Amino acid sequence: METWDAIRSRRNTRTYKQDPVAEADLLRIAEAGWRAPSARNTQPWDFVIVTDHEQLQGLSTVWQGAKHLAGAPAAIALVAPLPADEKRKVVDSYDLGQATMAITIAAADLGIGTAHSSVDDQDKARDILGVPSDRFVAYLLSVGYPADRPLAPINKPDRRPFDEVVHRGHW
Ligand SMILES: Cc1cc2nc3c(=O)[nH]c(=O)nc-3n(C[C@H](O)[C@H](O)[C@H](O)COP(=O)(O)O)c2cc1C
Repeated sequence: METWDAIRSRRNTRTYKQDPVAEADLLRIAEAGWRAPSARNTQPWDFVIVTDHEQLQGLSTVWQGAKHLAGAPAAIALVAPLPADEKRKVVDSYDLGQATMAITIAAADLGIGTAHSSVDDQDKARDILGVPSDRFVAYLLSVGYPADRPLAPINKPDRRPFDEVVHRGHW
């Protein structure tokens, strides 16, 4: 897929076919996150690729918006250090967003859907993934082929009007 088409095709995919995602594709998607830029190249992240059905079931219960993980063939957990202060938290969040977007676009490029989930029950998420106590599971991304329809460029995305959002030269 062309980059522009991948950007326009990405959408939160909350129902998945049961087809597994090839190992090479999962690694390529994770590599996109690994390559993401970060403030001072801090790289405040680790990625845990999950394909085990029981782990996915468990992760689907760590937040009310995590249910889509239960039906996904795979997920990627974004793990970050517990931030030392508010400034670090803001910068790390920006960096995690960059990694997330790289991952989701790389997936869309392969026709693979993703969906975000926040994480509420950190103890449970840490336990399922074996994450050390000085880290937290910042976000989860379910990963798989969309059950509803293949990814394709979305002509009218559900967004605020372009002209309201994009300013030229001044507000
Ligand atoms: C920081 C962040 C957290 C999100 N958390 C959840 C979540 O917990 N559960 C969920 O189903 N979707 C979650 N989403 C997905 C958003 O609802 C979705 O991206 C948004 O509605 C736009 O839809 P689109 O991604 O299909 O363009 C999250 C998205 C972001 C960026």
